[in-house]
Amino acid sequence: MESQYKLHLGNTKNILDEMIDRGEKVGMIFTSPPYFAFRKNYSGNDDGEIGAIHVDDYADWFLEFTDRFLKVLEPNGSFFLNINDKIDNGVVHPVLDELKYKMSKQGWYLVAKPYIWFKKNSMPTNCKYRAIDRYEYVFHFSNSTKPKFRADNCRVEHSEVTKRRLKSEITTINSRDGVYNTKKVTLNEKGALPHNVVITAAESNPSVLHPAPFHVELAEWFVKIGSDVGDTILDPFAGSSTTGVAALKHDRKFIGIDLVEFNINFGRNRIEHLLSTGECYIPKNMLEEYGIDVNYYKVKGKHINNP
Ligand SMILES: C[S@@+](CC[C@H](N)C(=O)[O-])C[C@H]1O[C@@H](n2cnc3c(N)ncnc32)[C@H](O)[C@@H]1O
Repeated sequence: MESQYKLHLGNTKNILDEMIDRGEKVGMIFTSPPYFAFRKNYSGNDDGEIGAIHVDDYADWFLEFTDRFLKVLEPNGSFFLNINDKIDNGVVHPVLDELKYKMSKQGWYLVAKPYIWFKKNSMPTNCKYRAIDRYEYVFHFSNSTKPKFRADNCRVEHSEVTKRRLKSEITTINSRDGVYNTKKVTLNEKGALPHNVVITAAESNPSVLHPAPFHVELAEWFVKIGSDVGDTILDPFAGSSTTGVAALKHDRKFIGIDLVEFNINFGRNRIEHLLSTGECYIPKNMLEEYGIDVNYYKVKGKHINNP
């Protein structure tokens, strides 16, 4: 049987070039790349070829990846990008505007307002001039203005207010001539359409050893809404393979790429654990049984590449 997932160790640009040469395609991309840095001289980690990218160079650095994403994405495919703003010397740096503009020139369509990933909990921070940051963006890019979008997969329960209001006829007003009318509206039995704020906890499961994971429920939501069963989901910066867990849990296939060997091995164990138990996390007390070095990321500055 063809494997449901592939994990590649290496620089994403090289791995994608090989996939492009072989004519391999993916149905959807979901990822969170390394974020930007403000120290020009950050020198990276022991394993990888790069450190964090300086914010002034970030958009151009990232375009070399998005160019390849365009080439591996099937028609009407989506690229969901989880990223956040950064405050530089007291102001929001315009790097994301630069990135969105340059990606549009590259051929990408930004097909929706940013999705908001709202975190129910967050680390306490000391912010003198602004409120605590509790959300990140997920930008929805596509190679088409009509991307595959399966809202039905993410419908939610109708609110009590809506259910109560729609028991009787509702009053509508025709905006052209101002005439009031009444009509009976029936609720969709499958539930209400999802809105663009996705609420999960911040990822705090102690068994996910990666320093910068997103929550598996976030990945699950986007996998369900942007793909069909059997599609292949790519995470080109796979980290602890959270996207892989979400993809396989929902009967999609997965391709993950990371340049840190520890992450690839961790991801493989995490996915195998999911396939054998149905659980998204390896219990903490089983990590060593899987041969995972639980101290790997504890040596901050040595291995960490997302400062
Ligand atoms: C923000 S983390 C992703 C975390 C992931 N979403 C998770 O839930 O664990 C970004 C990852 O990109 C990897 N990475 C950075 N530059 C890379 C490159 N050029 N090629 C492949 N992987 C890269 C890093 O090793 C890191 O694990």
